Amino acid sequence: MNGPPAFGREEAQGRAKPHGDFLTTTVRSSNIRFVAAMTNFAATYLRFVWAGLAKHGQTGGIVPSQRFLIATMIAPVPITYGGKLIELGAGTGALTLRLAARCPEARILACEINPTLARELGRNLAAAGFQDRVELFAGPAEDLLSGLGKGGVKKPDFVISGIPLGNLGREKALALILAIRRALGEGGRYIQFQHSLLDRKKIRAWFPNLRTIPVFLNFPPAFVYCARKSKPFGAQAA
Ligand SMILES: C[S@@+](CC[C@H](N)C(=O)[O-])C[C@H]1O[C@@H](n2cnc3c(N)ncnc32)[C@H](O)[C@@H]1O
Repeated sequence: MNGPPAFGREEAQGRAKPHGDFLTTTVRSSNIRFVAAMTNFAATYLRFVWAGLAKHGQTGGIVPSQRFLIATMIAPVPITYGGKLIELGAGTGALTLRLAARCPEARILACEINPTLARELGRNLAAAGFQDRVELFAGPAEDLLSGLGKGGVKKPDFVISGIPLGNLGREKALALILAIRRALGEGGRYIQFQHSLLDRKKIRAWFPNLRTIPVFLNFPPAFVYCARKSKPFGAQAA
């Protein structure tokens, strides 16, 4: 009855080293996972670079945002935040994935206009297991924002945006900023990054309560605008 232990016949016959085999198998499968993750990362990165080259005006950059910029963008969202937030111009999800990991209770609606990047974002969300908490809107932010808040649905507390405002033209940029203001709940935050200070005045026109944070450790360096929707002001209240 005192037969060979659980590792099986080969071990009992002294032909196998179970711990060694186990280690080899574990190392091999973690190597495979690492290679698969790196391949996926490279593919995602290249798709973004291609979008940046082919549709530069719309994409506004040729590489996804990097860690310090992302950290500055998502820092205002409390880790325990359990409400809704919107990300505009999500790209392939560099920021979306970090945000979803940082705020496990939050529900995120991620919007991306470029169908190739939106598909890649969907794949990345599924691979990370976030597809239940992060909803994808593959279309223009303007369409998403105009449909929000209808039917008494609670407004989001945060709108985070990487949309290249500077490439939209003055009227479109102002209209988008106003639509963001309208979509936000009272006291809600609008967080936007840009690679210049060109649109600071436009943002201030609708969000007088505005802070600008430079992030030099990013390629290219960026500015993060952190705005709060305060009480309606003057005749322009929106
Ligand atoms: C500078 S990239 C930022 C991507 C990503 N958030 C990041 O930080 O790496 C801007 C993104 O906004 C998207 N975009 C541009 N105009 C848009 C619009 N009107 N609606 C939705 N997305 C838009 C572009 O396709 C691009 O993926």
